[in-house]
Amino acid sequence: MHDTQVKVIDETRQGEALDMPGNQTGKKLFLESYGCQMNFSDSEIVASILMENGYTTTRNFEGADVILVNTCSIRENAEQRVRKRLTQFNQSKKTNPSLKIGILGCMAERLKKNLLEEEKLVDLVVGPDAYRDLPQLLEETETGQKAVNVLLSREETYAEITPVRLDGNGVTSFISITRGCDNMCSFCVVPFTRGRERSRDPQTIVHEAKYLFQEGYREVTLLGQNVDSYRWNINSKGEIKDESKPTVNFAQLMEMVAKVHPDLRVRFSTSHPKDMTDEVFEVMARYDNICNYIHLPVQSGNSEVLKKMNRGYTREWYLDRISSMRKHIPDVGISTDVITGFCSETDAEHNDTISLMETVKFDFAYMFKYSERPKTLAERKYEDDIPEDVKSVRLREIIDLQMQHCHESNQRDLGKTFKVLVEGTSKKSDEQMKGRNSQNKMCVFPKGDFNKGDYVMVKITDCTAATLLGEVTEIVSKRA
Ligand code: 5AD
Ligand code: SF4
Repeated sequence: MHDTQVKVIDETRQGEALDMPGNQTGKKLFLESYGCQMNFSDSEIVASILMENGYTTTRNFEGADVILVNTCSIRENAEQRVRKRLTQFNQSKKTNPSLKIGILGCMAERLKKNLLEEEKLVDLVVGPDAYRDLPQLLEETETGQKAVNVLLSREETYAEITPVRLDGNGVTSFISITRGCDNMCSFCVVPFTRGRERSRDPQTIVHEAKYLFQEGYREVTLLGQNVDSYRWNINSKGEIKDESKPTVNFAQLMEMVAKVHPDLRVRFSTSHPKDMTDEVFEVMARYDNICNYIHLPVQSGNSEVLKKMNRGYTREWYLDRISSMRKHIPDVGISTDVITGFCSETDAEHNDTISLMETVKFDFAYMFKYSERPKTLAERKYEDDIPEDVKSVRLREIIDLQMQHCHESNQRDLGKTFKVLVEGTSKKSDEQMKGRNSQNKMCVFPKGDFNKGDYVMVKITDCTAATLLGEVTEIVSKRA
């Protein structure tokens, strides 16, 4: 009937690799990434580790000596896409028999040796906590051996590694602040593929933000599976670990990063409704350079379903977080994630999701059909019993509703003026530039006497489904 899965940014970004200057005699690495922003951030750590060891990166997989694919397991179709791509890469071995192909990230962790033995698609399998071992593991493959390291760690945060920025706009960047996840949402494979949650040393985070600012970056996104549970020198019971050292929670960390420079914008992702405190909203309200935007996945609008999902909050709790957020930050932009067709979801429960969406009116949403994942609590406890066609109909319903809300949200912005960080030339026309407002909406406007990295005021005159269109009324500050 229709596309069964919404195209989501986090699954369509791929193949970002950069030709870097460096040791030209070194081996050429083609690094392709799938999945969430965390994976893209990890790929920058991988590139950094391998470039330190003499590798250069290439955008052309046919000329590469090593192909690494950083993968995602969140839904089954994400894994299928990677399998197809690996099969395609394997064709290159016919003309280049010494080519080594490796799989990194969540699929590596989930499937482990199966990928080497049963599927024979790769030479190398490396999980998300073992990237420091990559140079040595690649060396092992030189002799025709297969190499694996899928050990998960309780400590690894790659804290002191300066990532090589592969995304290339030179203006916006990610900083990982936590790794892993302890939440055990019943549908989610992440706690199994990325291991226990751990927070990174706040000093190394601030240092990275300062470094990025000096390098010309003007926006950082603090990344973690659940940024609100960031804690330094505090144990899981909330007790101080070392009395002689300061403690840092997420709100405090965000403030430390916001203080790096007023021209450095701060974003963060992803927040968890059960852990999102008013303290975070207060800090957001206090600093102009912390963006007024929150991605707060709801998953379902029904408290019974939320309980089965093991989300740790009710519909009422979620709505209370939204009210508090809007009270503290009246112009906040809010987006969410929704899953339709979770185990034995009834029509009435689905309608609760619809009514929640109508109450909140999200500015943006990522929407998915439930995809059962091996080993998860839901797979062990509940039946994946909603027929595919029912999942699809429900998904279509919420997509249509969300499209209406996106349109209304954009219409409300007509005539408003926003401060926008210029990110570069618009994809569609060389005569147009693009950048986001604080609420994370993409704005497109004619070129002028400003460049990427500058802040401009843009008056919104028109909109499309996904973009605000406008004119620059003032150049606020130029990147030095
Ligand atoms: N099926 C469908 N969607 C899922 N997500 C996570 N696991 C699954 C699954 N098994 C969605 C959630 C999460 C987002 C990153 O992916 O909505 O917030
Ligand atoms: Fe998965 Fe839940 Fe952790 Fe997000 S918070 S990564 S959905 S277990």
